Amino acid sequence: MENAVHRIGVFTSGGDAPGMNAAVRGVVRTCVDRGIECVGIRRGYHGLINGDIFPMNFDSVNGLLRRGGTVLYSARSEDFKAKLGQEKAMGTCKLLGLEALVGIGGDGTFRGLLAMSKQGIPVMGIPGTIDNDIACTSYTIGFDTACQTAIDSIDKLSDTMQSHERCSVVEVMGRNAGHLAMYVGVACGATCVLVPEHKVNFAKDVVEPIRRARIGGRTHFMVIVAEGVGSAYDVATKIKEATSLDTRVTVLGHVQRGGAPTARDRVTATNMGYEAVTLLAEGKKNRVIGLQGEEYVNYDIEEALSMKKGLNEQTYEVMRALSGMG
Ligand code: F6P
Repeated sequence: MENAVHRIGVFTSGGDAPGMNAAVRGVVRTCVDRGIECVGIRRGYHGLINGDIFPMNFDSVNGLLRRGGTVLYSARSEDFKAKLGQEKAMGTCKLLGLEALVGIGGDGTFRGLLAMSKQGIPVMGIPGTIDNDIACTSYTIGFDTACQTAIDSIDKLSDTMQSHERCSVVEVMGRNAGHLAMYVGVACGATCVLVPEHKVNFAKDVVEPIRRARIGGRTHFMVIVAEGVGSAYDVATKIKEATSLDTRVTVLGHVQRGGAPTARDRVTATNMGYEAVTLLAEGKKNRVIGLQGEEYVNYDIEEALSMKKGLNEQTYEVMRALSGMG
């Protein structure tokens, strides 16, 4: 069947995530396979406005599966928020003869894609963010690697906390969502995990689990705080006041955004890149790719942006029950 598009552009935007490069590779290699030209756009919407582009082919994505970061660079463009910026971006698409855009990123990236679709160019969104906070998909590229990176650091912290009988308070990224903190908390057997989706009762959710663990014989403790809850330093001060424990704070920060992607992120990104180009070739437009169970799905971009995602409450209950939060 004849392809519905002949030349497309691909870019990454917003906070980077491990596996974005694998998604770019998936897009480019699927284009090559289908005989579609692919143009790489550097620095997200900023590059689209300024024509920061280069041709991509089979070999330009060699070795990208295992590379962290994004070779296309990423940016949060202020200019693109204004209508004039969006018109300039459309001007670049017209100049290059692009018939569609594939954007890899989070909610902000998808809002930008929606604006571009209103300028008249078909778009496809691929969810890439360590926050896993995109509602139309159960999984976003980068989440698994970020969890693993956090766990590796926390395991090391646990060793020194054990030696010194301290309480570690670790701040985990996730913006306004607690998915990352909760998964990390379950995986490292935290004493307690604080997430923005659930109001924190300090005495019940923090002090009591520490006391229970101490009575049970434990002398070091691991408290995980999602950044959306507030500062880990404030939590640590309150723990010290309430328990007189020696506390230490670690803000994991941007280390969670780096590193070689895990197998899960490589494979998910590859499949999503393939799906995005296949849908465009079939004449579909303005969709966001998602994963539900084992199945790759796609949603209208406006519908995707209107959906809400809560925490996985079952996992949250398991975390509470097993950590001693009750
Ligand atoms: O959305 C990904 C994320 O890493 C969030 O978890 C975090 O709040 C934010 O980006 C940090 O943004 P920046 O890289 O601009 O500091």
